[in-house]
Amino acid sequence: MSRVGVVGAGYVGLTTGACFAHLGHEVVVGDIDTDKIHRLAKGDIGILEEGLPELVAEGLSTRRLRFVVGAASAAADAEFVFLCVPTPRGSEGDADLSAVEDVVREIAPLLTPGTVIVNKSTMPVGSTALVARLLGAAGAVAELGVASNPEFLREGTAARDFLHPYRVVIGADDPAVAVRVSELYRDVQAPVLVTNPASAEMIKYASNAFLAMKVSYVNAVANLCEAVNADVREVTLGMGYDPRIGFEFLHPGPGWGGSCFPKDTAALLHTAARVDDDFPLLAAVISMNDAQQDRVVDKIRDALGGAPAGRRVGVWGLTFKANTNDLRDSPAVAIVRRLVEDGVAVRAYDPAGGESAAELVPGLEVAADPYEACVDADVLVVLTEWDEFRWLDFTRVAGLSTGRSIVDARNLLDPAAMRHLGFAYRGVGR
Ligand SMILES: NC(=O)c1ccc[n+]([C@@H]2O[C@H](COP(=O)([O-])OP(=O)(O)OC[C@H]3O[C@@H](n4cnc5c(N)ncnc54)[C@H](O)[C@@H]3O)[C@@H](O)[C@H]2O)c1
Repeated sequence: MSRVGVVGAGYVGLTTGACFAHLGHEVVVGDIDTDKIHRLAKGDIGILEEGLPELVAEGLSTRRLRFVVGAASAAADAEFVFLCVPTPRGSEGDADLSAVEDVVREIAPLLTPGTVIVNKSTMPVGSTALVARLLGAAGAVAELGVASNPEFLREGTAARDFLHPYRVVIGADDPAVAVRVSELYRDVQAPVLVTNPASAEMIKYASNAFLAMKVSYVNAVANLCEAVNADVREVTLGMGYDPRIGFEFLHPGPGWGGSCFPKDTAALLHTAARVDDDFPLLAAVISMNDAQQDRVVDKIRDALGGAPAGRRVGVWGLTFKANTNDLRDSPAVAIVRRLVEDGVAVRAYDPAGGESAAELVPGLEVAADPYEACVDADVLVVLTEWDEFRWLDFTRVAGLSTGRSIVDARNLLDPAAMRHLGFAYRGVGR
């Protein structure tokens, strides 16, 4: 069993730390956020992640998982240091690696020969080599290993995805380093792919951009369905049974968002531009995604008779997808913000992200339950696909709302049932 340091205690770092401890390693997770570390040390994970509180509690009780303030405390004595800090969108669309650079400078003098630095954050092609250069420049000993080990977990099922991944990708120039990293995953049943660092870095971006493209494709098909009287639900069912296509990421909606797809597609486009490649397909995917949000806003404005100011809209769902409390780059938040700017009174309910959304959108009212969100609403809008919205008392919903009009940006509700209750129903592509 190995001594693993993890820098960054967010979705990826916390999951990595708790899962490695579960797999038997001695893990120290460090973060600059002192409050977060104090909460984590008490087992309060602060995010909605199925199974993760239990894994953190297990790690704390076995003492295989510890939380410390700062990158240096996590890296000292570690055989492996996983970098799990943010790599947000930079001003040019590139990935901003300043947190990575800060951490490398901080930990470099502490590392002992044989330590392997592993890039788990999503970092562009060339970053493994960059980290090696930065370590050297910051005075680290020469005998260090560097590797890329991109993370593919999905928020909401992060722990399950980490422990049961579709694949583990390790990019390293030194095969011995790759073998050592792969041994950390010895008890994980998954194909392990060892590549050169650039390929590992590209695999992550190419995968995320592909999934974004799939969603944008189905959004475009849905928009066409609306124009030709086809039902996208039937169309995607007919497509998805073909295993070459599959059902996943084949649901039209208000556009993709979240903490990864927007910044990762922008960063891949930036990488392409660096080598004079316009990557027009990816550029179109990104601009189509912006247009998809506009379409939802237009549908809501239409439902309000083209005169949104002073009207009331009830919203169900604010997180970027269901089963997470993450609001980063959520299309729902962006749409709600535009409605509020239009002078619409918006009252929204979300099972997990409501309170924080109120801080992001001044003027947004947060409802305590989905029914409160409908009170006196001229239009009801579904923006996130939380399952619980399917099973509400819609007779009660109809009684509470004024306008009897629904814009269902996730195709979550049954149009026939809604129309039967007297609602004007607008879905996506149906
Ligand atoms: N969230 C996902 O679903 C997901 C999936 C795969 C990959 N990734 C990638 O993983 C990386 C991290 O993403 P995340 O969602 O976990 O981010 P996050 O914002 O949830 O967590 C990052 C953590 O790093 C800490 N941090 C920042 N600077 C630090 C420093 N100098 N020293 C110590 N700690 C520091 C922050 O306080 C924060 O707790 C990103 O590159 C992201 O693209 C994310």
